[in-house]
Amino acid sequence: MTGAGESLSLRRGDFLIDWGRLLIRLFRSLPAAVLAATWFGTPAFAQTPVERGAYLVNAVMACDGCHTPRGPAGLDMSRRFSGGSQIFAEPQFTVRGSNITPDRDTGIGAWSDADIRKLMTEGMRPNGVPVAQMPYSFYKIMTPGDLDAVVAYTKTVAPVRNEVQPPNYKSAFRQETIPGADKPIGNDVPADPVKRGFYLATLAHCMECHARKPEGGQDYVGWLGRGGHEMKGPFGAVKVSNITSHREKGIGAWSDDDIKKALTQGVGRDGRSFKAPMARQVYFSKLTAQDLDAMVAWLRTIPPAE
Ligand code: HEC
Ligand code: HEC
Repeated sequence: MTGAGESLSLRRGDFLIDWGRLLIRLFRSLPAAVLAATWFGTPAFAQTPVERGAYLVNAVMACDGCHTPRGPAGLDMSRRFSGGSQIFAEPQFTVRGSNITPDRDTGIGAWSDADIRKLMTEGMRPNGVPVAQMPYSFYKIMTPGDLDAVVAYTKTVAPVRNEVQPPNYKSAFRQETIPGADKPIGNDVPADPVKRGFYLATLAHCMECHARKPEGGQDYVGWLGRGGHEMKGPFGAVKVSNITSHREKGIGAWSDDDIKKALTQGVGRDGRSFKAPMARQVYFSKLTAQDLDAMVAWLRTIPPAE
């Protein structure tokens, strides 16, 4: 279900506006927050659902990579989430990232929160037509609070009118789910680093690429983290790396810092800059230190495989 390497892309600069806005909002609400903290003894900077949703979308889930139009200068955040630019062509279907702005006619402005939640976790639209490519099988694991937070955040973007070319479904398609990720992980995001890392890496759908067999198709049991699928795109061709804990073929011999550098700067242990499919993942540089550590802790538990 991976497209021509066009899935997932975010450049560092893309979030400047968001973080700026967030800061402004934070400062505006500062007196109230401080007051509340004095009154009720709650932390002054507890996250609102929209702030939590912003973090998940911008640092982990990267809806932009598939839903925000991409021009020569990268993602066009002035038309954020309006779709149509990323094309995913597979033998079973050809689809484009949808317009998920709150525009009522061409986006999802007429959908209820329950409609959006159902699409995100079951891949089913209100009109009964299932979606292809959209990584809903990776979102079944979301805690109820995180799911609500992402829905709340998507509704804060500006409505953009943009009619996206309709999908073309050619034959049956379905998505496998990673074992243990088929239902909400619990009411709260786990504090245990390995479980937390598994949660975050699932939302970041690392295994959409890294568990894809050379000939296509994902295998989340026998092929977890083994890579080997060749991705092609405007960047040329690149083989997805083995990220199992195998010491020679995988990343078992890498230090924590090596792994963090790969995730946040798009640079390999050998010093090479990654090609687009992985280079675009530098939005992980927005992860909190705790979440980045958790991601590393979970990566270390992937059984070695050549
Ligand atoms: C790997 C690419 C990819 C990512 C990441 C992704 N989507 Fe999608 N999404 C798609 C594609 C492609 C479609 C349209 C599929 C089709 O038409 O069958 C879609 C469809 C949707 C739809 C249905 C819209 C409609 O009009 O039917 C919604 C809602 C949606 N995505 C929300 C999100 C949100 C929110 C996120 C981030 C949390 C996200 N998507 C992340 C690729 C992606
Ligand atoms: C869109 C597909 C895609 C996604 C999603 C993705 N990767 Fe990658 N990853 C790649 C490709 C392709 C490479 C090889 C890049 C290159 O060699 O230029 C790579 C390389 C890597 C490397 C470097 C390994 C080495 O031997 O140099 C690490 C580590 C890695 N990925 C971890 C992750 C983790 C962890 C996630 C999720 C948090 C993730 N990737 C998500 C496609 C992806």
